[in-house]
Amino acid sequence: MPRESSTTRTRQGQAKSPPFVFRPLTPHLMDELGTVLRGSWGTGCWCTYPRLTDAQMRELPGPGAANQRRRDAMTQLARRRRAPGLLAFEGDEPVGWIAIAPRTELARIETSRATPRVDDEDVWVIPCVTVRKTARGRGIALALIRAAVTYATAHGAPAVEAYPRAGATRIGDDNAYFGTEPLFRRAGFRVVRKPLENRPRNWVPRVTMRINAAH
Ligand SMILES: CC(C)(COP(=O)(O)OP(=O)(O)OC[C@H]1O[C@@H](n2cnc3c(N)ncnc32)[C@H](O)[C@@H]1OP(=O)(O)O)[C@@H](O)C(=O)NCCC(=O)NCCS
Repeated sequence: MPRESSTTRTRQGQAKSPPFVFRPLTPHLMDELGTVLRGSWGTGCWCTYPRLTDAQMRELPGPGAANQRRRDAMTQLARRRRAPGLLAFEGDEPVGWIAIAPRTELARIETSRATPRVDDEDVWVIPCVTVRKTARGRGIALALIRAAVTYATAHGAPAVEAYPRAGATRIGDDNAYFGTEPLFRRAGFRVVRKPLENRPRNWVPRVTMRINAAH
């Protein structure tokens, strides 16, 4: 994908052009991914969590510790022509990461009772977004979502889906990794399914949101 810049709006609503550049993950950008994930749950999972069931996680090949084998698995994915996600850069500094893939590649999402399919559309999914701790609150997550939709569309996705937390309650950043309803709404997604009824009481209420690709 060619480098892609983004325009966002300031909190006051004035247009500005932040110097963000989005790059598909490649093996030589793995350290930059590590920099973004540092201090979050992503440090341990290297964003393999949505892709693998617990059994698949345990069976990851390689001699190293679990963290290293997950990093290796993500590096393998980054070798493919279609990247497993995009990094956002501000100048030379990596400031954000977003995972995006066809839903069929995200085994945990496909099998989870929390994220059942709405229909048979061959959707792509944004399962996780992370902004570097020092860069939060500046619209980078929103810019990443827009860039990910553009990337998926360029690769033929008919629609992109996400399963963010319902409502606009402020929560701890660590618990906002699958995004929030207002965040995706601002990126043009609409709710296609409300929170599951009869979900266990300890489950976070999540909506299914979708944006159709503009081919
Ligand atoms: C959630 C996260 C991606 C948001 O990134 P960000 O760049 O700060 O988000 P933005 O500035 O684009 O925020 C846009 C909107 O998202 C929503 N939002 C962001 N953080 C939120 C939070 N903690 N709670 C509720 N809503 C939130 C708000 O609606 C916000 O709009 P507002 O600032 O006008 O209220 C960031 O806090 C993060 O990386 N958290 C850690 C995720 C993580 O643990 N990842 C690893 C998983 S393995």
